[in-house]
Amino acid sequence: MSRFVQSHITRMQGYVPGEQPRGGGFIKLNTNENPYPPSPRVFEALSAAIGERLRLYPDPLATEFRKTAAALHGVDPEMILAGNGSDDLLTIITRAFVGPGDAAAFASPSYLLYSTIVSLQNGRAVFIPYGPGWALDAGAFVEGGYKLAFLANPDSPSGSAQSRGWIAALASRLECPLVVDEAYADFADPGRHAIALLADHPNVIVTRSFSKGYSLAGLRLGYAIGRPELIAELMKVKDSYNCDALSQVAGIAALRDQEHLAGNTARILATRARLTIALRGLGYTVTESEANFVWATGGPPARETFARLKENRVLARLMSYPGFPEGLRITVGTDPEIDRLLELLSESS
Ligand SMILES: Cc1ncc(COP(=O)(O)O)c(C=O)c1O
Repeated sequence: MSRFVQSHITRMQGYVPGEQPRGGGFIKLNTNENPYPPSPRVFEALSAAIGERLRLYPDPLATEFRKTAAALHGVDPEMILAGNGSDDLLTIITRAFVGPGDAAAFASPSYLLYSTIVSLQNGRAVFIPYGPGWALDAGAFVEGGYKLAFLANPDSPSGSAQSRGWIAALASRLECPLVVDEAYADFADPGRHAIALLADHPNVIVTRSFSKGYSLAGLRLGYAIGRPELIAELMKVKDSYNCDALSQVAGIAALRDQEHLAGNTARILATRARLTIALRGLGYTVTESEANFVWATGGPPARETFARLKENRVLARLMSYPGFPEGLRITVGTDPEIDRLLELLSESS
């Protein structure tokens, strides 16, 4: 601890990202990366962009990228903000809306970064617990006078998702912006996507990621979609060059290859269904997932299972949240990867 650092920062815990082992040889099912490669068009775009022009700064507004994302979603480019992964967008949004002493709300269990970025603002993070069946009390989001509300949809670690109607009703009741974090939306029923709500709900901001569906976690790219008047304010908050030249061209190429996205997604959904059934067969409680991972509780002690998997070079994510049983969040890998996981789990159940 240093006396030079602001006290709200010395008091807070930093966010601890999932383990990224540097040595190879692991079956990596712990941070929800896509097990399949990105579109070949991404590699072509990257190769074409690697050259002398890298000495120049990138487009600070990511203009072509915004146009491409806007065309895909049928919105105006003024409604798109590019970010260095969706984490960057969540930080920009929080910096814009949450000041010292302000409270922001989100569900629990959910993505723990929300709490960290609210604490960085010297704000107050309020956890609203899920009820049975992963139901959320909209009233609890509305009553606290929050400056910002986050909803990951689908959520992590459960993989559960709220309906678009539920999100619309929540947005109508809220006096503050509602961030619908759609990092996993590519694996969910499109009927849940919240972009359709922007026309009637000026307080909704949707965030999307290239790390999951598009297999580009190493690139760091995401975008937010919101009403132009909100995006214009968020533009002032972002770093000048928050998206580098390579991620911009790669993102455009990835968005233009929806067929590739659909192919990879279909494979993941098939494996997800098989994994869910197999885990239930082994005695685990598994939430019906709309994401590229499943949440398994209720089997043998999760901590021991996690350690045994790791000894056998299979990495899952052990997660514990107050008031909820400890569990394993398991990314949907390739079929052979999931076969190996199931083989190890069946030895211990
Ligand atoms: C709910 C949720 N939102 C956002 C992110 C961050 O995504 P990105 O890699 O685009 O920063 C994650 C990463 O795992 C996540 O689980």
